[in-house]
Amino acid sequence: MKVLVTGATGKSGSVAINEMIKMGVSIRALVHSADERSDKLAAQGIEVMVGDLLNFDDISAAMKDIHSAYFCFPILTPGVLQATAYFAQAAKDAGVKAIVNMSQVSARRDAKSNAAQDHWVGERILDMTGIPTTHLRPTFFDEWFLYIREDVQKKDTIVLPFGNGRWAPIDSADLGRVVARILTNPKEYEGKTFKLYGPEEYNVPEMSEILSEVLSRKIKYDPVSIEHFTESDAEKGAHSHFIQHVTHVAQDCIDGLFAGTNDSVETITGRKPTTLAEFFAKNKALFQ
Ligand SMILES: NC(=O)c1ccc[n+]([C@@H]2O[C@H](COP(=O)([O-])OP(=O)(O)OC[C@H]3O[C@@H](n4cnc5c(N)ncnc54)[C@H](OP(=O)(O)O)[C@@H]3O)[C@@H](O)[C@H]2O)c1
Repeated sequence: MKVLVTGATGKSGSVAINEMIKMGVSIRALVHSADERSDKLAAQGIEVMVGDLLNFDDISAAMKDIHSAYFCFPILTPGVLQATAYFAQAAKDAGVKAIVNMSQVSARRDAKSNAAQDHWVGERILDMTGIPTTHLRPTFFDEWFLYIREDVQKKDTIVLPFGNGRWAPIDSADLGRVVARILTNPKEYEGKTFKLYGPEEYNVPEMSEILSEVLSRKIKYDPVSIEHFTESDAEKGAHSHFIQHVTHVAQDCIDGLFAGTNDSVETITGRKPTTLAEFFAKNKALFQ
């Protein structure tokens, strides 16, 4: 039984691979670029293939002799729907038996974010293949705080456009462990959609207090407008696709769409999800 992991050098993909190496699973990693990250994977003794999820021939080659496959496409660049369609057809052609699909909590038919709506349509495309599929819909990752860490480093401030919105941030490493568990036991989870959350829900002022405690210095929250935040993202070179996405999920968050938590991570992995304080503590050096 061989599993395929796409997004293999990304956050959830790389952790899923590490977990499955420990389980002795035979793994093929599809990497986007040959670099030190792919070298590290190859050094762990797994098969590494370089390819583009936006190239049907590449993903078709990667699916050969695969039992179960993880689909993960980045949020920063456009193309998730095209990549999902290529992945779906290639999996069907190769007789793949199970799929794990990385979607997001805001995925819905009437989402205003193009990426969130495309994730929802992508879920339906995978369902249409008839291949047993598990959809993962996580909330915002803890890693959001790494994207915006420059303001913490330089101004002791968290700058985010989420108003008083609440969510239970999730460590993408917990997602990687969820992916590994489902890829290796797909029957238990097939046909299901999991909303995935961290252990505790907060608003950003509460998250700032947790970060202040971990860093032993006062970190403030500057609740900027969505326009201000996205203008600054654009200046830093963010793709218009990502800016369109952030504009609408920030409003979703303010409107309460991201609220809530559940025990799915612990039920699936048998391990308590990482707390936000633990995530901040393990990345403390990056905020200094
Ligand atoms: N961030 C959040 O808060 C959040 C919340 C909920 C759901 N999600 C979902 O999580 C998923 C992962 O997003 P992420 O942006 O955090 O990415 P990630 O999983 O950390 O990394 C993406 C991976 O995909 C690879 N990749 C990029 N373009 C590719 C291509 N054309 N073909 C093949 N591989 C390619 C990247 O390789 P290179 O680095 O070499 O390009 C990288 O290994 C998205 O579907 C997103 O909707 C994210």
